[in-house]
Amino acid sequence: MTNDINARAVSLRHTLADELERSGDLYSPQWRRAVERVPRHLFVPQVFQRTDTDQGTRWKPVIGEHDVGRWLDLAYRNETLVTQLDGHLVPQDVTEPLSGNPTSSSTLPGLVVHMLEHLAVDDSTTVLEIGTGTGYSTALMCDRLGDDHVTSVEVDPDVAAGAAAALGRAGFSPNLVIGDGLDGAPDHAPYDGVIATCSVRHVPRAWLDQTRPGGRILVTMTGWLHGYGLAVLNVSEDGAAEGRFLSGTISFMIARPQAAPSISDEHWTEMTKALADAEPRPAVVGPDIRDDWTGVFVAQLGAPGAQWQSRRIGDGAWVDYLIDAETDSAASLTPEPDGGWTVRQTGPAHLWDDVETSVGLWRAAGSPPQEQFRIRTDGHTQTVWIMANGEPVAWDLTV
Ligand SMILES: C[S@@+](CC[C@H](N)C(=O)[O-])C[C@H]1O[C@@H](n2cnc3c(N)ncnc32)[C@H](O)[C@@H]1O
Repeated sequence: MTNDINARAVSLRHTLADELERSGDLYSPQWRRAVERVPRHLFVPQVFQRTDTDQGTRWKPVIGEHDVGRWLDLAYRNETLVTQLDGHLVPQDVTEPLSGNPTSSSTLPGLVVHMLEHLAVDDSTTVLEIGTGTGYSTALMCDRLGDDHVTSVEVDPDVAAGAAAALGRAGFSPNLVIGDGLDGAPDHAPYDGVIATCSVRHVPRAWLDQTRPGGRILVTMTGWLHGYGLAVLNVSEDGAAEGRFLSGTISFMIARPQAAPSISDEHWTEMTKALADAEPRPAVVGPDIRDDWTGVFVAQLGAPGAQWQSRRIGDGAWVDYLIDAETDSAASLTPEPDGGWTVRQTGPAHLWDDVETSVGLWRAAGSPPQEQFRIRTDGHTQTVWIMANGEPVAWDLTV
């Protein structure tokens, strides 16, 4: 049985590597070799398979040893495989499909190799990974660079234990750290590269301090409006980093300490009451800006402390809310029967005004795609900008 599984897995890995080459994510022979050698099935012994139903997304448990054929096939698909929901549920805890919020996964292999290719490594490169997850991406790096050159940090002790066991089964022994990856891993620093498989609102100072000048940081920048952009930053002698955003619709779960604060029922009641009394005006930019990948990223640059929530009012229409818990500001967008939206705002920050200003600047510059955005940070002052008519149009995201 084990021999059958191994033989089938070898063939599936070869097919996966071909697929990743065809998609353009994989192009160097060294990373191809790693994809062909690392047994992803050992890192995902049980997963949640996504199914979309009329009631929304449901997660169906697939346990490898109960359903070998389906499990192996899933393990070598170019798909993200969710392994934990709501910070604690794993597939073996459940028997029926259920709803939940993914909190750990084995990232889409195409995305992992895309990022690894952009890390531009050579045989001597040392790498810090943030978000060990299942350990699969860690294993690819161990195969390519050697165990001693790889350090990986995972915040969730149960997830970290699973990864350590899987890495051991596959014959790898990198430096594994349990903790908040936003602090980096100073004991094994400095690194030539940092690769984050969770997203962040701000590049932490620790990553800059722990990366050698000339080193590279690959991280998906995000915020609470769910705009995402994968950035490649180069660290300079002065300890700051500057870089650009790559094309593609890439998203990652946010680093746990940077998740949006929850909004209490009391806060909701007060906020909706204040919004009901607020002066209405027609929206210039509607909540459908979310349908535009770069548009929502720009909206988020305009209101970086705001989170987005949609709620149905009774049996009626969905209303969109922007809420900034820190400044106690909010905006609502209510659809009008004849099209368009009405905006109401409360609190010191006029959140939707800020979104409209930001989107207006971007549109005036010709609505450039995300790969024309640049980023610079010293760990405190973080700036994103585009060039319009030879002049920078910048957003300040200072922590
Ligand atoms: C998408 S998964 C990682 C996928 C992994 N690279 C793989 O291939 O299996 C993201 C992981 O980041 C972890 N994570 C979230 N916030 C973190 C933090 N602040 N520090 C370290 N890990 C974090 C989550 O627990 C989760 O396991």
